[in-house]
Amino acid sequence: MEVILADYLGFCYGVKRAITIAKGNASADGTACTLGPIIHNPQMVERLKQEGVGAVDALDEMEKGTVIIRSHGVGPQVYDAAEARGLEVVDATCPHVKKAQLSAKSLVDEGYSVVIVGEKEHPEVRSIFEWSAAKAVILETVEEADALPKCAKLGVVCQTTFSGAKFREIVSHLVEKSCEIKVLRTICTATDQRQAAAMELAAKVDMMLVIGGKNSANTTRLAQLCADKCRTYHIETAAELQDEWFDKIEKIGITAGASTPDWIIKEVYIKCQNR
Ligand code: F3S
Repeated sequence: MEVILADYLGFCYGVKRAITIAKGNASADGTACTLGPIIHNPQMVERLKQEGVGAVDALDEMEKGTVIIRSHGVGPQVYDAAEARGLEVVDATCPHVKKAQLSAKSLVDEGYSVVIVGEKEHPEVRSIFEWSAAKAVILETVEEADALPKCAKLGVVCQTTFSGAKFREIVSHLVEKSCEIKVLRTICTATDQRQAAAMELAAKVDMMLVIGGKNSANTTRLAQLCADKCRTYHIETAAELQDEWFDKIEKIGITAGASTPDWIIKEVYIKCQNR
């Protein structure tokens, strides 16, 4: 049986960086915490906890210590609130997300009506929205773009992990909405690279294993794309692999979401190879 890894898989630059920053601020007394889980991966969150980096859901759970802002970023009011509580703030916001946040802010400052193209409830999109002083409109479909009223100056930014093709389509509808439109394509290449590599691999294997948190949007998307090409299973760990999946299978492809740790990918890879 041949087991092939996708050319691009697993942790992206921003997640790697955030984890390194979090580990560098670990504390033995449990006072260093990320605000929200550092990534959508329960195994990684647990491992970090053992290494001295906890996670809280809200700042009022912290009396003292260091709050680590995760790669998705937060709104400006969170920095203020953390400082007001006397917490030290360590910012692990991915630089690509930071760019989207600051782009939204400068568009608002320059008098543009701002649209954020992205998933309304995604934490990163919420953070970009906060940086727009809560003035932006968030939309993720062509229909929502069509329903937007016309305006004098329209500024557009995008969720970093949004599909490039879908963004282009939505922008092609938004151009009807204003005589002056400024589009900042704040999409990060990590997502496109992972999706393209996964689809390319899925087209030449009998089965794809997509590894990542069941609550991870980018992993779920990878699994959907692969399922269009071949039999696909979305798993969180090697323990979920089932014998019957491997019947009559000669080639297995493996990919993983941007929040899947290397050690989990390795476990799945080795378990497949040893069959
Ligand atoms: Fe940053 Fe792109 Fe990852 S925005 S967190 S490098 S998916």
